[in-house]
Order: sequence, then C-alpha cells, then structure tokens
Amino acid sequence: MSNANPLPRFAIVTCSDTRTLAQDSAGECLVKLIEDKGWECLSHVVVKDDVNDIAAAIVSAADEVAADVVLTCGGTGLSPRDVTPEATRMVCQREVPGIAEGMHAHSLAITNRAMLSRAICAQRFTETGSALVVNLPGSRKAAQENWEALVDVLPHAVLMMAGGGH
Ligand code: MTE
Repeated sequence: MSNANPLPRFAIVTCSDTRTLAQDSAGECLVKLIEDKGWECLSHVVVKDDVNDIAAAIVSAADEVAADVVLTCGGTGLSPRDVTPEATRMVCQREVPGIAEGMHAHSLAITNRAMLSRAICAQRFTETGSALVVNLPGSRKAAQENWEALVDVLPHAVLMMAGGGH
C-alpha cells in the first residue's frame, strides 16, 4: 500500500561484487541512520554489480517489500562494473534530478571526488503507489555524507508520493 503516513519505510540494496551482507558496513551504517530517525528499514540485501540483478532487487524492494524509499549503495562510479544508475533507469519511470543535485552539491563541498559519482534519483510506480530510488556511493563515509544531504526532504517526498502535501 502507498504510505499515507509520512514516516518513510526503507529498503537497502547494496551493489558490490566483493561484499557480503555481514561485511556491508555502509549498509549497516545506513540502517542505523534510518533507525536513529525513528524510521523503519524493511529489508537489506547485497547483490552483485550486475545490471539485471540490481534492477530485480530494486523491483523487489519497491513492489514486494513495498518500501517508500529504496537506497542503493555502491556502483555509481566509473569502473566498467559500476552499473547501478543504469539499473535504476531500467526500472524507474521518472527521474528526480533535484535530489541527485542536492546530494552532489553537498558532497562537492566535502570532496572533489564527488565528481566521480554518477548517482541518480528516480521514481518507480507500483500497483499501489510509488517508490523513490536513491543511488548512494558505496563507501561508508560517502553513503553517510549523501544521507545527510537527503534526510530532511524524505518525509515530504513520501507524503507527496502518497498524493498529499500539495
Ligand atoms: N561523495 C561523498 N560525499 N564523499 C565521498 O567520499 N567518494 C566519491 C564519490 N562520492 C565520495 C562521494 C568517490 S571516490 C567515488 S569513486 C564515487 O563516489 C563513486 O563511488 P561508488 O562507485 O562506490 O558508488
């Protein structure tokens, strides 16, 4: 069901050829940051840097887990195996460039290496509503810094996705 309650419910999809769930300190950090806000993380998975595997994990998080916000973690850079933005575009209908721009601006004030992230943010429409898919970089530090840029707009974003707010 679409979430009329403005408390966002999350799913985390970490994209990594090398990490296991137990080793996913960036994902674990995101779970803690979500819970510190009093919000709920409904699922946390790790998938390989494969465009179809990532796309399937995003679909599952949005349609089956019914998360309002799907945070992907990793795979936004320039290496040949970095395909998270491409997977996100495959399964989303419209981009939300302002969120990606906001995270980018915040990150550039911290490190010029933020230029190396191709992260996007986009909306996937489901049978019951929609999910916001946000690409975060894969290191614990970078994921946390991008979360800081994003966190304050999420309740209003979720309210709007449920048809409220405006
Ligand atoms: N953004 C912030 N805020 N802080 C960082 O340290 N690291 C950058 C960038 N974005 C970074 C950041 C680096 S070094 C890379 S290579 C890209 O994110 C892509 O990371 P990813 O391939 O793990 O997604």
